[in-house]
Amino acid sequence: MPKDSLTITDNRTGKQYELQIENGAIRASELRQIKVKPEEFGLMSYDPAFMNTASCKSKVTFIDGDKGILRYRGYPIEQLAEESNFMEVAYLVVHGELPKKEELENWKYQIMHHTYVHENIKKFVDGFHYDAHPMGMFTSTMAALSTFYPDAKEIFDPQSRQLQTYRLIGKVSTIAAYAYRHAMGFPYTYPDNDLSYAGNFLGMLFKMSEPKYKPNPTIEKALDVLFILHADHEQNCSANAMRSVGSSYVDPFSALAAASAALYGPLHGGANEAVLRMLKEIGSKDKIPAFIKEVKEGKSDKRLMGFGHRVYKNYDPRAKIIKKLADDVFEVTGKNPLLDIALELERIALQDDYFVSRKLYPNVDFYSGLIYQAIGFPVDMFPVLFAIGRTAGWIAQWQEMLLDKEQKIARPRQLYLGYDQRDYVPIVRR
Ligand code: CMC
Repeated sequence: MPKDSLTITDNRTGKQYELQIENGAIRASELRQIKVKPEEFGLMSYDPAFMNTASCKSKVTFIDGDKGILRYRGYPIEQLAEESNFMEVAYLVVHGELPKKEELENWKYQIMHHTYVHENIKKFVDGFHYDAHPMGMFTSTMAALSTFYPDAKEIFDPQSRQLQTYRLIGKVSTIAAYAYRHAMGFPYTYPDNDLSYAGNFLGMLFKMSEPKYKPNPTIEKALDVLFILHADHEQNCSANAMRSVGSSYVDPFSALAAASAALYGPLHGGANEAVLRMLKEIGSKDKIPAFIKEVKEGKSDKRLMGFGHRVYKNYDPRAKIIKKLADDVFEVTGKNPLLDIALELERIALQDDYFVSRKLYPNVDFYSGLIYQAIGFPVDMFPVLFAIGRTAGWIAQWQEMLLDKEQKIARPRQLYLGYDQRDYVPIVRR
């Protein structure tokens, strides 16, 4: 008779243990009962980089990496990208259900009426050097926002959490725009609440002397879809940072700054920026074979940026959608000349045994940068655009963690392999 349990024999003692299997997992803490002597700490599982550890139960996002499936709250990403819009998806990700008409109206109203930031934020952003990376400005300014909203510390008050949610989703786009305007040396543009979320963001970025900014509908739609595609991605590095830092019960602005810092790295949200730099470095299609050779030889740790994923071992479904979206955008902006290099690079890589055998396919970042660049974003703004969409997911993950009775402050164990006790040696005797 099959049982949902796992029997372990400890060959050191010959003892047997039966551990329950629940949702396809055993509880790592159950291993603690396995010990040779009673005073021992007990067995731990060693899992650097959480390769096979579920750190939480979640109902937000489902990914089947082998099949290339991504769903938010059960809804396939393809349907959401095709039929929904970012405001609706952000509501879905945060609240768990698609909004009814009035709920959506209220959500949009609240978010768009929390897009303004305190005037001092302008002075804060002014303090950055002219060539400061926008992601550094974004991350620090998000942390600074916590000082403007001390009420955000009330993390167990549902109304306060709701208010911080409006503020966060509303203000991330303003702060992202300020970072851009500062880098360009342009005056800051105030939000225009009559526009859509993406339209207003475009206005805050690109509005100059015209009295009313009118976004190009194709660009506005493309940006909205890109925000949808980035809204959540279950337990990735930045979501894990949001949960981990949030588990100390710090306010959500500070936790989000930590998540944003995690996103900045080139192996995570910084990859879209790295892809563009890589395509530029390759320069022309005839240089691709030499570049691929270098990657395969592992020279100077070079990687094919925008390829590979911890979870997807198939084509990233977001990359498929973005590839299609690129055609719409290029019709308005003209084709990004790097597109041909990207397409050829993908073609060659997907025929090469190195990439095929390791199941390395294009991920979300491979094509997104080409669109961003065609729209007119400088390369170092790309991760900030990722952060805007992902804010919805960070909030959902943070809230789920806070309300999960099983969660505690995140605190992994270690296998200590350092010195045993030794006596201090004064400097003259070393
Ligand atoms: N180019 C060349 N080789 C690669 C690449 C790549 N992009 N990605 C993985 N590999 C190789 C890697 O060298 C290793 O080979 P071997 O088994 O011979 O040592 C094997 O494939 C497995 O790689 P891994 O580093 O163990 O895989 P991981 O799950 O730890 O890393 C990853 C996932 C995304 C960090 C990695 O694929 C990578 O660095 N990709 C490039 C950066 C990138 O595009 N990041 C964006 C991820 S998607 C957006 C997001 O969610 O942030």
